Amino acid sequence: MKIVTVIGARPQFIKCAPVSKAIRDLAGADPSGQKGMKEIVIHTGQHYDYMMSKVFFDELGIPSPDYNLGVGSGSHGRQTGEMLIKIEEVLLKEKPDVMMIYGDTNSTLAGALAASKLHIPVVHIEAGLRSYNMRMPEEINRVMSDHVSSLLLCPTLTAVRNLEKEGFSNIANGGGTLVKPILKDEYDTSLPLVINIGDVMYDAMLMGLDIAQSRLGAGGLTAERGISRYCLATVHRAENTDVPARLDKIISSFVGISEEMPVVWPAHPRTRKLLDANYPMLAEHKGLVITEPVGYYDMLMLEKNASVILTDSGGVQKEAYWLKVPCVTLRDETEWVETVESGCNMLARPGQDDIGEVFHRRLSTAGDFKGRLYGDGSAGRTLASLLMEIYG
Ligand code: UD1
Ligand code: UDP
Repeated sequence: MKIVTVIGARPQFIKCAPVSKAIRDLAGADPSGQKGMKEIVIHTGQHYDYMMSKVFFDELGIPSPDYNLGVGSGSHGRQTGEMLIKIEEVLLKEKPDVMMIYGDTNSTLAGALAASKLHIPVVHIEAGLRSYNMRMPEEINRVMSDHVSSLLLCPTLTAVRNLEKEGFSNIANGGGTLVKPILKDEYDTSLPLVINIGDVMYDAMLMGLDIAQSRLGAGGLTAERGISRYCLATVHRAENTDVPARLDKIISSFVGISEEMPVVWPAHPRTRKLLDANYPMLAEHKGLVITEPVGYYDMLMLEKNASVILTDSGGVQKEAYWLKVPCVTLRDETEWVETVESGCNMLARPGQDDIGEVFHRRLSTAGDFKGRLYGDGSAGRTLASLLMEIYG
């Protein structure tokens, strides 16, 4: 079986690490070679700076992509269109049995469209997430990708229920997390199939945390600067960076919080460009530690040792939950509703809520971190077995 995987943005490199490993492990475990699973990786080039891309391949031991399309940055139409043309060329050459896509970026959508038009079954990992905010480019990418997918692999029961509301009815295991392969005759392969396998990012974090701890020990970015108690911040969503009033509120709240404790802020290049252009004095502000994006291991340690995390990232919200660190999400809504329902995460809507007030409220309340909301860390292995069973 030949699988083509399309990735292109930072979180997709992290998500694909445990899955690609599980595929290699499963294929390698068969000395007869009959399982014959081969994964071909296409990197669209959506992210291209070393610290946004290659660092993750180097750190996480992901094999180099078989194709790098070098698409780079651009408007949504141009970027997605260029990816679509180039992915189609690879698919026509490679003739895979299945296409694998992750999450909700423009790379996800381009992969989904290119494959589905060529009648190649699409496997969508992180299917079913919804913000119900169609102004987010990610929401458009998710909805479109889900509706051309054949196998929709959800990270949560909420995601399964979201798909059910949109008419998907072929749901395995009642929507509960699948921890072992199911038998082929238990489901109908003529319809798109929805399965909750848990979250592959949890697998990645479990794989990464021990390595991060042994590599960095007590060291790392904060130790180097003598910082012990701090708030970790990340901001990159278009709805925050591209709306000046919202970015302004976020920045003034960070400045306020930094009077109480340092705010360590590895800035996404999209945000960095705006900070350099419009807030040149910020870099001088004592208490605000604005850095380049960091590698995955540095990030896990920064998250683990933070007193609070302020973020608009999807992945970082969940990592905060897994690492039992209080989180404030700088958005109007979140797809990861379970983190909010458990009290571990609070929403602060930039421009509407007082972010500093929510920060203090989050600091002074407990959250219930005990639940296993995102599977048991075996999502990658479950996925590899499913691929074999369904398409092998
Ligand atoms: C993309 C995804 C978003 C995801 C995020 C993860 C879409 C629509 N958005 O957002 O869902 O959460 O990745 O980080 O796909 N840039 C660089 N160097 C790079 C990459 C980007 O300088 O290596 C700058 C460019 O100025 C570019 C801007 O960042 O225009 C935005 O990059 P882009 O990939 O379009 O969107 P992200 O904000 O990264
Ligand atoms: N991350 C990282 N370095 C950073 C910022 C984030 O390694 O400087 C990791 C983070 O730990 C998480 C993932 O990148 O695993 C989240 O990616 P991002 O916030 O870019 O995208 P999102 O999850 O919002 O789509």
